[in-house]
Amino acid sequence: EVFALQGKSNPQIVVISNRGAYAFQERDRELIPKRTVGGLASALEPVLTDYGGTWISWCGRLDKPDLERGIRLGVPPGESRYHIQEVLLTREEHDLYYHGFCNAALWPLCHQLTDRCSFQKNYWEAYRKVNQKFARAARNIKKENPRDIFWIHDFHLSLVPQYLRHQLPDARIAFFWHIPFPPADTFHILPWSRQIIYGLLGCNAIAFHTDQYVQNFLDAVSFFYPVTIFREQGLILFRNRKIYVQALPVGINYHHFEQLAADPLVRARAQEIRQSLGAEKIILGVDRLDYTKGIPQRLQAMACLLEKYPGYRGRVTLLQIAVPTRNGIGEYGVLKKEVERLVGEVNGRYDQGQGAIPVRYRHVSLDQEELVAHYLAADVLLVTALRDGLNLVAKEFVASRIDGRGVLVLSPFAGAARELQGALLANPYEPSHLATRIKLALEMPLAEQKSRLESLRRVVRSRDVRWWWQNNLKPVKSPYTTFTPATGM
Ligand code: F6P
Repeated sequence: EVFALQGKSNPQIVVISNRGAYAFQERDRELIPKRTVGGLASALEPVLTDYGGTWISWCGRLDKPDLERGIRLGVPPGESRYHIQEVLLTREEHDLYYHGFCNAALWPLCHQLTDRCSFQKNYWEAYRKVNQKFARAARNIKKENPRDIFWIHDFHLSLVPQYLRHQLPDARIAFFWHIPFPPADTFHILPWSRQIIYGLLGCNAIAFHTDQYVQNFLDAVSFFYPVTIFREQGLILFRNRKIYVQALPVGINYHHFEQLAADPLVRARAQEIRQSLGAEKIILGVDRLDYTKGIPQRLQAMACLLEKYPGYRGRVTLLQIAVPTRNGIGEYGVLKKEVERLVGEVNGRYDQGQGAIPVRYRHVSLDQEELVAHYLAADVLLVTALRDGLNLVAKEFVASRIDGRGVLVLSPFAGAARELQGALLANPYEPSHLATRIKLALEMPLAEQKSRLESLRRVVRSRDVRWWWQNNLKPVKSPYTTFTPATGM
């Protein structure tokens, strides 16, 4: 097999994450790789399509004991620019590790929603076992090049760095933590917090979205281990090894969004969306249907707005796109029902029978063209997360608004608020405050919209996805390591 770009002596990038850019579907005994949607996949895929390498991930298949090591496949189909190495899980492992430890313990804990946490020993045991599986898969693809870089992602795989370090003491290991890292005294609620910290200390470099998360992580490290920490330089000395710790918020493929926003078909679709809503002003929300995103709070704020300012009734619509997610987890089903109930309640109370409907709700996943068309159709984007690692939707909206119009209303509890200073900040916990901020956004003069967007666009453009991954991998690149872009096959 001719492989995209790596000669034998070149180092390869090995990305390791729970979910990858492809999931496998079996049809007529054939395995079809299908693109997945999600922030992590879209941030990482350009790295591998440009530079080649391997992506180790679970590809959506369960209970395949006969194929213990999973499939290795060149992708994108027909181009084979990098390899997928599948990790297979049993249904029980997936339930306890993904639904259990990842999404019922770590996810709510890191978002500081501790009432939602469930800590169970069997969750933890499955988490350890699955992390060992991923580490083994990484060990198995490791051939002879000591300069290969392992880049591990997210809270699902925090133990992999240390497992890998035991097997390959000189490995170059980087880690990116995609969700918030909570204050140390919150993190310590987790009965296995020390083991998570120890796992992460197996890497050479670790990055988070914000400086606050970095400081929280360093506090947690110093609580458990007598390490030397140079906070200013972002450096830990742990057992004679340097670990670089940095704040590097994920960037987006800025030019791609700009191009889509200029595409006549996408622009026509944006017009169509506007017309179909029949509103003078459109407020947009695009979120995974997750309890961290503050969707009920946003609907309550909408009710407040229409109650306090009846002049908006029939003239303004909130278009809420709720992307299906984590369907197997009970809490997500409860949230879906709650959101549907609130949508009905707001519409029942404030629909005038003519003009725009207060809330349009769609439970759907959009492709990028459709997403950008929605960004272009809106006057205001609402990002009202109760807590969010970063929020890429905010960045995508900014990049798409090539016309310089539009207002971003952003929760201060989303990591993106640190970077996106031109946004209108709004506390989502108080509906009447949020309603006031939405009103301000709806009435913002064009000149102010433009100047705010200009400064936002500058940040999103300069810290794009390339900036992100290059800075992440800088500490683990040796002076001899060069990545050569693919020339095609
Ligand atoms: O934000 C963290 C994250 O894991 C992203 O990487 C991912 O896009 C999202 O949450 C949803 O994750 P999943 O569907 O894999 O649980």
